[in-house]
Amino acid sequence: ERSLLGLKDLSAAEISAILDRASYWDAKEEKMIPVLKDHFVANMFFENSTRTRFSFEMAEKRLGAQVLNFAAAASSVEKGESIYDTVRTLESMGIDAGVIRLKPIGMLEELAKRVSVPLVNAGDGNNEHPTQALLDLYTMKQHFGELSGLKVSIIGDIKHSRVARSNLWALQKFGADVKLCAPENMRAPELSTYSPYIPMEEALCADVVMMLRVQLERHTDGLIKSAEEYRLQYGLTEERAAALAPHALIMHPAPVNRGVEIDDAVVEHPQSRIFKQMQNGVPIRMAVMERALL
Ligand code: CP
Repeated sequence: ERSLLGLKDLSAAEISAILDRASYWDAKEEKMIPVLKDHFVANMFFENSTRTRFSFEMAEKRLGAQVLNFAAAASSVEKGESIYDTVRTLESMGIDAGVIRLKPIGMLEELAKRVSVPLVNAGDGNNEHPTQALLDLYTMKQHFGELSGLKVSIIGDIKHSRVARSNLWALQKFGADVKLCAPENMRAPELSTYSPYIPMEEALCADVVMMLRVQLERHTDGLIKSAEEYRLQYGLTEERAAALAPHALIMHPAPVNRGVEIDDAVVEHPQSRIFKQMQNGVPIRMAVMERALL
């Protein structure tokens, strides 16, 4: 399978193969290794992105691929063209793979069945964000050596989080002990059969605290009354960060709401790996694009 739609249905062996290959690319000193020079890749973002979009582009360009960037706001989507017709249009022009970010849940699987080029999920609704979780696992493995037995707390807006879901599915395959922590109205009840929701003070006793962005753009129902109230109850404040175990890592997929789910000074705390996560996104996406195309 060349497409990467999610991690839920990928085996631990397949995930390990991607992580190992990312490590291979990470160790390369040369910036350009043009193994994909005869391949065309379209990055199709129907939702905004900075990290995912640019790190896919960095990864593709480092491997020498011919990169086409599609932004919905500057396309015929604005005239009402559907996502399916857009992907089929680019496919008919001869792209060899598509990287795609979408809002509607369930659409990606349908699209993948109807097109013949491999598709790579760059985040679909609140379903999965597989390359984010891969870079998160890579970052944890880099620090701890292995994932088995690692205590990981995922804290915050779980309800809207594709990052939480992809991490949960992947980490559990490696025997990590994943716990969830969220205010009542930001919980995804269907996940509690896989991992329990625990109180904030308990969640902070972990090897990794993964803070999630409060996704205000998806809050149609006023889930957050006050940023300060949220910060006091569920934010990684400077005081809470100071009380973490000295070996613990602070992670966040970003973008961050500084002063809401994480204090300004904690973003670049010595235990934070937030910018390392972004750096690791490039070799992970090199491995994923190589897998999709070679
Ligand atoms: N972490 C992440 O997906 O960031 P972007 O939305 O900027 O791509």
